Amino acid sequence: MPPNAVITGWGMYAPQRILTNQDLARMVDTSDEWIVTRTGIRERRIAADDETTTTLSVYAARDALAVAGLDPTELDLVIVGTCSPDYPLPATGVLVARDLGATRAAGFDLQAACSGFLFALATGSSFIRSGMYRNVLVLGVEVLSRFLDWHDRGTCVLFGDGAGAVILSASDQPGGLLGLELFSDGTGAEGIIVPAGGSACPASPQTSAEGGHFIHMSGADVYRYATRQLAESTLAALRSAGLGVDDIDQFVYHQANLRIIKSVGKQLQIPDEKVFVNIEKYGNTSAASVPMALVEAVASGRIKQGDRLLMAAFGAGYTAGAAVVEWTADPLQAFRAPGAQTRLGKPRSAGAATLGETAADEEAALPEVAAAG
Ligand code: UT7
Repeated sequence: MPPNAVITGWGMYAPQRILTNQDLARMVDTSDEWIVTRTGIRERRIAADDETTTTLSVYAARDALAVAGLDPTELDLVIVGTCSPDYPLPATGVLVARDLGATRAAGFDLQAACSGFLFALATGSSFIRSGMYRNVLVLGVEVLSRFLDWHDRGTCVLFGDGAGAVILSASDQPGGLLGLELFSDGTGAEGIIVPAGGSACPASPQTSAEGGHFIHMSGADVYRYATRQLAESTLAALRSAGLGVDDIDQFVYHQANLRIIKSVGKQLQIPDEKVFVNIEKYGNTSAASVPMALVEAVASGRIKQGDRLLMAAFGAGYTAGAAVVEWTADPLQAFRAPGAQTRLGKPRSAGAATLGETAADEEAALPEVAAAG
């Protein structure tokens, strides 16, 4: 029998700086009322100037390692699901392994946009089930604030920065990944795209001047596709697990838009109390959104040992991923383990301030944001 890949550790990190809807209303032609009604978002976190996708990853990963009771040297593999890496090369996964002291681990990045964590979870599970590795660190991490046009109200109000991590470990006990669906459809490539900076359109002064390195999105098209595809991916993952909607204890969806989550819940007749939502605090953190929601769902007591979860995401490509997971860990382990406590879904510092309250020099630290004002 191949080993099962069960989640033994989990952690998250949300940067301290909070950007509220009111802050955004001072920067672009928008309002708190529009953003809350159309998306459910009230605020999002923005990485500090000295923070990167690697540094966010390391915070989340250290907590996940502490919960699992693992030393970094016991990791065999580090997979970072991200579309906002530190560099086009080298891979963020390599830098994360270096900074963690995961000296035995191979590291790489996996790009499936907002579905990146689900694709990385599937990949990590496969390495464990094949017998090749015993402990895999799977991350979903983004610093999308560096890829936003802070003059474009259609995108800048939606996204935020953050990191979520799980440790997958080999186990002879039942549990872990029960069902999976990965999906992609390249006909939607233009739906969400950073058009420049790759081989199709290399970086140049012109691409920079034209905003080609920012995220461009056809919101309404993406919305329509996402509501349908998330429901279909959910059902496909359930079929692959041999389960139905009623067999799932908690649904942890990609936090892109509260209306999308509600629409999927309605289509599938999922009771509201089984659907975890934290979009109001973080906005759309792309690949980080599902693992951050998972960590907060566990910390809030909504996930218990033996529960079955369905995690699903949708993103650029288009891509979608859905996984049915049996949760085998003791949720209280997160409270007992030593560490920074970010895994409990709290900011690293209780003194996190809103952008409006920060000192002038901190405000200046967001050059594009400040310029847009
Ligand atoms: O992570 C996965 C990928 N992303 C997504 O899943 C995002 C999917 N799309 C969405 O969530 C929604 O389409 C949005 C939230 C982006 C937009 O909501 P919508 O209800 O689809 O609005 P819309 O794009 O149809 O725009 C409606 C109006 C437009 O004005 P007019 O043409 O009716 O006068 C927009 O210009 O709202 C305007 N608008 C805004 N108004 C105030 C667009 N953005 C804003 C804004 N503030 N931030």
